[in-house]
Order: sequence, then structure tokens, then C-alpha cells
Amino acid sequence: MTVAIEMGHTTAGAPAALDLEELLATRLLVQGNSGSGKSHLLRRLLEQSAPWVQQTIIDPEGDFVSLGDRFGHLVIDAEEHTERGLQSAGERARIHRVSTVLNLEGLDAENQMRRAAAFLGGLFDVARDHWYPMLVVVDEAQLFAPAVAGEVSDEARKLSLGAMTNLMCRGRKRGLAGIIATQRLAKLAKNVAAEASNFLMGRTFLDIDMARAAKEGWPCPSDAAIARAYGSHSLRRARRLLTYIEEQGLIVCQLDGLGRRVVTLVELAWATAPGDPNAEEAEQGSLAV
Ligand SMILES: Nc1ncnc2c1ncn2[C@@H]1O[C@H](COP(=O)(O)OP(=O)(O)OP(=O)(O)O)[C@@H](O)[C@H]1O
Ligand SMILES: [Mg+2]
Repeated sequence: MTVAIEMGHTTAGAPAALDLEELLATRLLVQGNSGSGKSHLLRRLLEQSAPWVQQTIIDPEGDFVSLGDRFGHLVIDAEEHTERGLQSAGERARIHRVSTVLNLEGLDAENQMRRAAAFLGGLFDVARDHWYPMLVVVDEAQLFAPAVAGEVSDEARKLSLGAMTNLMCRGRKRGLAGIIATQRLAKLAKNVAAEASNFLMGRTFLDIDMARAAKEGWPCPSDAAIARAYGSHSLRRARRLLTYIEEQGLIVCQLDGLGRRVVTLVELAWATAPGDPNAEEAEQGSLAV
């Protein structure tokens, strides 16, 4: 039987559906700027699939706790449990096939990582008899699989990254279908992101903001504006990003006689108006983020 999870409508008005079986057989990465609707999308996906499949959510902000009221998910407040207790909660969730929300709200980064790792470890390590398919959703995945070392201890980072790597790289055989969301791919550990085979891309500077500048005939955003949209202060990083996207064949960057930059989106054949790459951000080419 094919189960279609309705996510919304296409621009033509037809239902936009995801095939649940396909979702369970693969791994999904959701990416978009803050406020672009990632958590909303995950929520929709969970609500639509709740009657059909067991699910668990690693919830750093407490956004998904109310799934308990409507769909009967067991909400586990990580604050109230030890790591050992959470490991065993993960195992029991699988043995009893209960949908759960691991609420990590209120914990510091170190403890969010440690406790999520313990719970994921329980899901992963359960005996083979219990390897039934389930969705494992991780919102703000960069918190648990960060690309660079932050202020947490090496041990916490290792535990958490290990659990996320297990989920995304070795989970499928055990029935765990990873669905992860993040604001910036650059913030997510590469080995974790690399395993995703399906992508839902929300608003990011390239596909919407740059396209909008081109469509509306606005000046090409400056390096400073691009850096900000990318979540960085580094102008070099902004230039490297443009070069990278150009190397992928998606855009062409040109300078006019006055040193102003024009970006053409290859597939759409839309071009921005000329913009000064060195302009202060406020002067021109602001990106809607
Ligand atoms: N498809 C939608 N229809 C209606 N409202 C939406 C839709 N998608 C998002 N929203 C609303 O937009 C706001 C931002 O969405 P959401 O919290 O999901 O963003 P986010 O990508 O998770 O952001 P962050 O990275 O900051 O967590 C919310 O108030 C949400 O309810
Ligand atoms: Mg969110």
C-alpha cells in the first residue's frame, strides 16, 4: 500500500505529497533560513504521518511537545532524566513502539548534546527483534552535529556527533529513517549532511533572495549583504560562496566597466542590475532574510 503524506499544494493547485515508504527508505535534509518554515514543515510531516508510522523527535526548543496532546506522543523531559535513563527510554520506545518527543528545552548546549546522544543511542542499540521502521526527526541538527568545535566539551561533541552519524549513516538497516533540519548546511558536520538523499530547500540567499534581486532588477547584493545572509561576517567567505556557486554552473558573475557586479541566474536567464560588491550593506542590494 502506498501512503501519501500531503504536505501542501503545488503552485498549480495539486496536492504535494511525499511517499511514506520512500521516506522510510531514505534520509531527508531540510534546509532554510531562520523563519523560513522548517519546524512548521516538520510538524506537518509528523502530523500527517503520525497515524501510519512510529516517530520520535529530538526537540531542542520544545516546539513539538504539543504533539502529545493531539497524537499521543510520549513527551520525555530530558531535564528530568540521566543519560543512562534516556538511553533506556530510547530502547523502551522501540520495544513498545511508542512515538516520543525528547524535549531538550531549558538545557545548556553540553547537556542537550549528551542527552540527545544517549536517547538516540538507545534507539540505535536496541536488539534486532525491535528494528521496526520509524521516523527520527532532529530539528536544529547543527546543534547535535556541528561542523566545528564550539564551547562544549570534546566528549559531549564526540558522543553527539557519533549518535548523529549512526543515525544518518547506519540507521537505515535498523529501521531508523533520519529527517534532519538546519539553517545552514555549512554549520552541519559534512558526514552527517552527506548521507541525505532527499532535500527540501527553503529560503536561502541563492535560490530566493538572489533570484528576487534578478527578477525585480535590483542591484546585485554586495559582499557584506551576501555574508550576512549566509550567517557570516567574512567578506572573503561571501566571495568564496559566489565562486563556488558559479563553479556549479548555477550563476555567472560579471563586472561592468565601473567595477560593479552583475549576477545572472543561468537557468532562468535573469540578471541583477549592476551593484557595487564593496558597498556597505545598508546602501544597496539588501537581501530579504
Ligand atoms: N507553510 C506555512 N503556512 C503558514 N505559516 C507558516 C508556514 N511555514 C511557516 N509558517 C510560520 O512562519 C513562522 C516561522 O516558521 P518556523 O518556526 O517553522 O521557521 P524555522 O525555519 O523553523 O525557523 P528557525 O530556524 O528560526 O527555527 C512560524 O510562525 C510558522 O508558524
Ligand atoms: Mg525552527
